[in-house]
Amino acid sequence: MSEKPHPLSLSIFKDITEIVDSLGVAAYVVGGYVRDYYLCRPSTDIDVVVVGSGIEVAKALGRKLHTKVSVFKTFGTAMLHDRDGREIEFVGARRESYSPDSRKPAVEEGSIEDDQLRRDFTINALAWSLNAENYGELLDSFGGMADLENQIIRTPTDPDVTFSDDPLRMIRGVRFATQLGFDLAPETFDAIARNKDRITIVSKERIATELHKIVASPRPSIGFELLHLTGLLPYIFPELDALRGVEVRCGKAHKDNFVHTLKVLDNVAQKSDNLWLRWAALLHDIAKPRTKAFDARIGWSFHGHEVVGSKMIPEIFRKLRLPLNEKMKYVRKLVFLHLRPIILSEDEVTDSAVRRLLFEAGDDVEDLMTLCEADITSGIDSKVQRYLRNFALVRVKMKEIEEKDRVRNFQPPITGEIIMQTYGIEPCSIVGEIKAVIKDAILDGEIPNDYDAAFALMEKVAAEKGLIRKQ
Ligand code: CTP
Repeated sequence: MSEKPHPLSLSIFKDITEIVDSLGVAAYVVGGYVRDYYLCRPSTDIDVVVVGSGIEVAKALGRKLHTKVSVFKTFGTAMLHDRDGREIEFVGARRESYSPDSRKPAVEEGSIEDDQLRRDFTINALAWSLNAENYGELLDSFGGMADLENQIIRTPTDPDVTFSDDPLRMIRGVRFATQLGFDLAPETFDAIARNKDRITIVSKERIATELHKIVASPRPSIGFELLHLTGLLPYIFPELDALRGVEVRCGKAHKDNFVHTLKVLDNVAQKSDNLWLRWAALLHDIAKPRTKAFDARIGWSFHGHEVVGSKMIPEIFRKLRLPLNEKMKYVRKLVFLHLRPIILSEDEVTDSAVRRLLFEAGDDVEDLMTLCEADITSGIDSKVQRYLRNFALVRVKMKEIEEKDRVRNFQPPITGEIIMQTYGIEPCSIVGEIKAVIKDAILDGEIPNDYDAAFALMEKVAAEKGLIRKQ
């Protein structure tokens, strides 16, 4: 740690020092920037607390740097970007108190200690002085350094107060524990469990931001386990909560799908940083509770859970305020297809089955394979090895077939327009039927993926259907 250049050697801080000293006010860097320095994490956003007017200091710095300052009067904050693109936000030191029936805090001016005390966690309440007389001095009034060392997430004050001030902090606590691999202090954990129902007053958008950060963490399962253990999960993600538990009938048990899902998510996280592939892992079995059935002869089944699950995706995305765009479609598609490679690898791997998978998955086929491999969480090693060997075979076949037949992003060479023009017909079911025969013939390898072969087949099928070519 000592070998790193101290971040306060950046010229922007010297500029701030000049300004605050000339204005006769105290200023501090506080929050994530300080924390991340000690954790050796990259950080570009800088929060500066001024014991006085943050807006005034920001304006003076803006003049000095000849840069635009955005002022948010209602919040008493101001923000600008320095020449290196860092975002610097200024705020006056505050004491805040919230009345239980209002989301709006009563804000008064306060000291730096007041300001640190009202922050969410001790590790986020560390501050460095920016005034020349004690430049770089660390203010650690609430044991943040010790908590960093001991890897603890703890509130600076009574956690019931911290969480009722802003209930989102309960999920932030879980998120920091997940991102950093830290533990929640017992009293912090207990307070989350006590205050869990207050999460309902927090906007879905703010919760979604935290969920993304949990999903993007090195081991996302930690976060979802903690959300479950603290009791937050049913409030924010009931469909995931419904996966929990094991039912036993006639001595037959199914696996706990929550535990399984988290294992799959961690497996994917080891292989890929793709956020949406990780979401697909989290959601791949989401319809298991809805499709669960028991038969005394065969035991538990979840028939069609991939189909029902894919249909649930738009609604889940809408409820969680995740984007309803191509990301949603990607997740829906992976959920829909997540059993296909495994079914494929259970039988003899035929060219036509591989061709169909390539056609349906398109460019996402590699991600689908990653998800499927992650989905093999059996405790029996020989079974896992057998599946992985078969998957390796599927991959080899996929490569061969893609090189030969180019079906990954294939559009059948004969369009509906061509069929209608050739036979002078209007849009009707026959057009779709002819197109389907051509597509199937290509995917089954009966004809090559080219125009002439497809045209010849169109003529044959059209003749069978009694269509006559327009002159
Ligand atoms: N903060 C808080 N309560 C919140 C949000 C933020 O007390 N609900 C304080 C914390 O001191 C935090 C600082 O504001 O360090 C900046 O917040 P933010 O930029 O959201 O978080 P960072 O700590 O910088 O971390 P990250 O960027 O990972 O969210």
